[in-house]
Amino acid sequence: MSSGGGSAAPLLTPYKMGRFDLSHRVVLAPLTRQRSYGNVPQPHAILYYQQRTTKGGLLIAEATGISDTAQGYKDTPGIWTKEQVEAWKPIVDGVHAKGGIFFCQIWHVGRVSNNTFQPNGQAPISSTNKSMKPAVRANGIDVATFSTPRQLETDEIPSIVNDFRVAARNAIDAGFDGVEIHGAHGYLIDQFLKDQVNDRIDKYGGSLENRCRFALEVAQAVVDEIGADKVGIRLSPFASYSEASDSNPEALGLYMANALNKLGILYCHMVEPRMAKLGEKFETPYSLGPIRNAFKGTFIAAGGYTQEDGNKAVSTGYADLVAYGRLFLSNPDLPRRFEIDAPLNKYNRETFYISDPVIGYTDYPFLPSDV
Ligand SMILES: Cc1cc2nc3c(=O)[nH]c(=O)nc-3n(C[C@H](O)[C@H](O)[C@H](O)COP(=O)(O)O)c2cc1C
Repeated sequence: MSSGGGSAAPLLTPYKMGRFDLSHRVVLAPLTRQRSYGNVPQPHAILYYQQRTTKGGLLIAEATGISDTAQGYKDTPGIWTKEQVEAWKPIVDGVHAKGGIFFCQIWHVGRVSNNTFQPNGQAPISSTNKSMKPAVRANGIDVATFSTPRQLETDEIPSIVNDFRVAARNAIDAGFDGVEIHGAHGYLIDQFLKDQVNDRIDKYGGSLENRCRFALEVAQAVVDEIGADKVGIRLSPFASYSEASDSNPEALGLYMANALNKLGILYCHMVEPRMAKLGEKFETPYSLGPIRNAFKGTFIAAGGYTQEDGNKAVSTGYADLVAYGRLFLSNPDLPRRFEIDAPLNKYNRETFYISDPVIGYTDYPFLPSDV
């Protein structure tokens, strides 16, 4: 490998993540693409994911709904029906055929939804019944309006935990190597974690311990169902997307890291504090360092990484793996480009979420094979 003056660049060194032998540390971040018509994964996703597969590379699939109340965007995939599970199989097989390791990100949007996405037009469910300001655009995607959510009753929460458990089982049945619990970016789990949103007075609200209870019950259920060696979680304690911020994000991140250690999960995937707001980097005094040091499993960092600072994160031990979102979206051969210090394709925001099965999806160019 040519990068880094003769020896392999840190991002291109192998890493053993539990029982998975990764050949490099450049991870495909979960990327919602809104091309799963009617919440069913489509055959065009086979090519999309295969293009981004390397032998021994880790890919995290786009956020995938766990139930019929989990949706908040058009044409995002689900994994709660038999049809959806069957539809995932050829996509997972395609990744495995090229030697990739593929995790499914399991997701419930909570209040980042409106009743047109909900069964029988009901209100979206959440930790709270506080609605968001209509002007808020959820994570860069236009959502017409957010409906006022309905706060889950205490005794309804086990059934949502169970939906995560079943979705994890379904992911394994579809062939995925493991699941990533989506606990980030203002969605349902984050709506419990963050004190800007969570106004509950039961055992799921109030203290830090109580606010983390739902996330940890989900993690425990998923661990019990498929094994801790197949479970990761994504968290964004510092982010404020969809009006979900916390007054003490570092304490939140540390509490979760320590609690997750007890469950022995495979990895923790954290979004950088500099990505506090959508899309752009912000100056921040915060770092993931203390949380990384507290967590005992594999640590994946994400958010605004370049080739250079990804290499630095690995070489300094700040992260074991680095997940790339937009750069991997627009450069299907990103690890190869890093290997030879090749220029990168630019991403086009306009086509992130269009429903075209090719444009902005599988038509980003590769390097010529002889480069
Ligand atoms: C088009 C697009 C879709 C995304 N979808 C998801 C998603 O489904 N789940 C998730 O956790 N993050 C999602 N993100 C956030 C990315 O995983 C990543 O954290 C973010 O883009 C910052 O990393 P980057 O600077 O490498 O792009 C999405 C980002 C983009 C641009």
